[in-house]
Amino acid sequence: MTPLLHLENVTVRFDGLVALRDVGLAVEAGTVLGVIGPNGAGKTTLFNVACGFVRPAQGTIRWCGEELRGHAAHSLAGLGIARTLQGLGLFAGLTVLENVLVGAGVRARSGPLSTLLGLRRAARDEAELRMRAMATLTELGIADAHAALPGSLPYGTRKRVALARALVSEPRLLLLDEPASGLAADEIEELGEEIARFATRGAVIVVEHNMDLVMRICDRLVVLDFGEVIATGTPAEIRSDPRVVEAYLGVPA
Ligand SMILES: Nc1ncnc2c1ncn2[C@@H]1O[C@H](COP(=O)(O)OP(=O)(O)OP(=O)(O)O)[C@@H](O)[C@H]1O
Ligand SMILES: [Mg+2]
Repeated sequence: MTPLLHLENVTVRFDGLVALRDVGLAVEAGTVLGVIGPNGAGKTTLFNVACGFVRPAQGTIRWCGEELRGHAAHSLAGLGIARTLQGLGLFAGLTVLENVLVGAGVRARSGPLSTLLGLRRAARDEAELRMRAMATLTELGIADAHAALPGSLPYGTRKRVALARALVSEPRLLLLDEPASGLAADEIEELGEEIARFATRGAVIVVEHNMDLVMRICDRLVVLDFGEVIATGTPAEIRSDPRVVEAYLGVPA
């Protein structure tokens, strides 16, 4: 099967620093790929390349088999790639619903044609987007918080808002950067269920330090260390790989 997203020999440099070196990975529709590795290994940079924020110095990125060249972040969003940011990345001055609408805007019709068709169309689009945003909040169990400012909500709820903002565009590929960080055990459990539920509709790449979650929800794992892929495999294979244990998982106590 042709992977949804396929990176080959991707190298990213920041001035003198090589953040990613010759990285290859593939994710297929309906699967969850985990990316693990120590701090500074290049995990977030990998997402930044995958969604077009950062252009690699070398390598190719294919979407459904077709090479993406010089795509800007907004056009990649048009293909159906959505992400959450490490931390929260919510707009403090916008309500929960408005924050989610920022994500929904990705697939909104805009441009000269919709301007010509006039404001009624725009109003209808906005009503549709609001309904979709509210439906996503309901799905994540936080509809009651739609009018609140993020700063007034518990951290776990804010993380859900960030997830809702990524889900509302109905992406084909969802990139989650440390979705479990700062969450309580029961919230992590629910997050795992939500990710698994989403994976029946689309593909997921998740960067995560919580090994229990990663081992439970991922079909395959990629391990990065100092910008290089040091192992790829199923969770069981990765858990017993001596290089991974040495570089990242540590010696069992
Ligand atoms: N925009 C940038 N400019 C310069 N250096 C950068 C930039 N972004 C990342 N780096 C560097 O690239 C390396 C990889 O960073 P990255 O954020 O991808 O790591 P990470 O694996 O996500 O780490 P963490 O687990 O701490 O989130 C680090 O050395 C970082 O300092
Ligand atoms: Mg990171």
